[in-house]
Formats: sequence, C-alpha cells, structure tokens
Amino acid sequence: MPITETDTTVVLTHPENQKSTVTILKYGATVYSWKLDGKEQLWLSSAAKLDGSKPVRGGIPLVFPVFGKCTDSVNHPELSQLPQHGLARNSTWEFLGQTTESPLTVQFGLYPEIANSELTKIWNYDFELILSVELGVDYLKTAIEVTNPLKATRELSFNWLFHTYLHVEDVEDTMVANLAGSNTYDQLLQESYTEVQPVIGFHEELDRIYRNVNPERVIQVVDKGHPLHSVKRSNLPDAVVWNPWIEKSKGMGDFEPKDGYLKMVCVEPGHVHDFVTLKPGAKWEAFQLLYKDELNYQAL
Ligand code: BG6
Repeated sequence: MPITETDTTVVLTHPENQKSTVTILKYGATVYSWKLDGKEQLWLSSAAKLDGSKPVRGGIPLVFPVFGKCTDSVNHPELSQLPQHGLARNSTWEFLGQTTESPLTVQFGLYPEIANSELTKIWNYDFELILSVELGVDYLKTAIEVTNPLKATRELSFNWLFHTYLHVEDVEDTMVANLAGSNTYDQLLQESYTEVQPVIGFHEELDRIYRNVNPERVIQVVDKGHPLHSVKRSNLPDAVVWNPWIEKSKGMGDFEPKDGYLKMVCVEPGHVHDFVTLKPGAKWEAFQLLYKDELNYQAL
C-alpha cells in the first residue's frame, strides 16, 4: 500500500522503492521523517513530542501566520498575542487523502473550525490552508496554498515558512552555499548586512534571515565538499538558516541528544521579511523542493 493512515499519522511509500518513505503527523501536518532509499534525510530530536502536546522538534514544522514572535502590538494587536511561529504547527490538520498516484501526493487542510481553538480565539481570522506532500523517487516536495475565503470580511496578512531540519553528518564539516550577496538580518546580533562569505560555516550558534534571495538560487548543504541537500524554492523569497549550538540546545527540553546540534542544520524557506496580504477570495501558493544534485555554486 503506498499510503497508510493511522489515527495520528500518514505514511507514504514510494511504489518503485519501498525504502523511500515520508511520515507525516496530523498534528501540525508535520513531516517528521523522509527516507530516501532507506536513508533518513531529516533531523528529529529523540525527545520530540509526537503526541500533540507541543510542536515537533525536528522534521518540517509549518510556520503560519507569524514567523518568530511578533512584537508590534500597535500595528498587529492580534498577531502579537500568538505564540512564537503561530498556530499551524500546534493545530491538528485534516487529512484530505491522496490527490495523485504518480507522483504520489497527499493533502492536508487547516481552517479556523478545526485549528487550535485557544489560538484562533486570539487571532480570529478566516483562512484556508492546503498542504500537499509529494514523494518522488528522489525528492520530497511540500507545497502550500493559502486562501482568504470569499466570505471573509477583512484582508489576511501572514508569514509562511517551512521550518526544515536537515540531517547532516557533522555540522562542523557542513557549509551552506549560494546565499552570498543576499541581504541578511542576524537575529543574534540584531544587525543587517550583505552576506560576503561564499559559503556559511558553523562554529557557534547561528540564526539569520536571508532576505529576498534570488529565486534562481538553489540553496545547497555541502558536507566536506559533497552536496548533501539541495533546496529549491518557489514564491518563498526568504531563507532562515539556524543552528542552536551548545547553550541554546541545553535550554530546549525537547532537544535531545544534547549534542544533536552537530547532526542538524535548519534551512527554512519562507516569506517572513514582509507579510503576504490577501483580499477576500484571493489565494497564494508556494513550495519547497528537497532533492539531490551536483554541486553548483551560484554565489556572487
Ligand atoms: C528559527 C528561529 O526559525 O526557529 C530561531 O530563527 C528559533 O530564532 C528557532 O530559535 C526555533 O524556534 P522554536 O520556537 O521551535 O524553539
């Protein structure tokens, strides 16, 4: 069976290769495992909660309608009351079933009627989210459609981000390529500058928002000179790069093992620098594609 559904999960198995699978938790519609020919591609904390008690630490949590914590309570009174990264990753989505057999694709939906009611009480907007998860023989595509329903009485403004935790062998041997020349906001230094380094290395906590990255750029995670992950983006101009390193990992109760930061890097395609704004009846679409490719430096 290419698709197996339980009360809490949906597993897709590629018809041509039984060792290529993707597992999605209905809570958060969180992809928490993607195996390519038997090899896990994503990082998942061994202490991640998969019981719906908190967002999953690892995999691909979904960030909507706000990235991080909104501090502008004057212009965004409702959004600023939402927890960090919004409400999509802490709501149980509806499994809508399979949409195509080849490529193998399933969809999940989220609407105010089923979203986390504590949070929709605070952020009381109409919205419709459809997540498509497509498992190719050599790729994983996650695509999102956000609609402001025709019946809505006001505009819908939001951020979107795929908070993708990629598995690496050793982050100290890992580089992220093809972001040079982009403007970045360093969330730790709280400063903006143009990235001049041809590749990004990891030697301490790193938390940066690369803004308006040329859509032609494929972000590549490179391990000792070999391309490990390639990330293509559509309609997602920004990319967050994050590694918590030692102290921040210690402070996260659901981050285990504590040296797990060595095995992960987050490359998070999103629309987070600005809000997307939709009039009633309007729709916005975007996707990320994770795949394998040759090393292709597109920097500068
Ligand atoms: C990243 C942010 O996207 O998510 C970081 O840039 C943040 O600042 C990280 O620490 C993890 O967030 P959370 O809410 O899952 O602990």
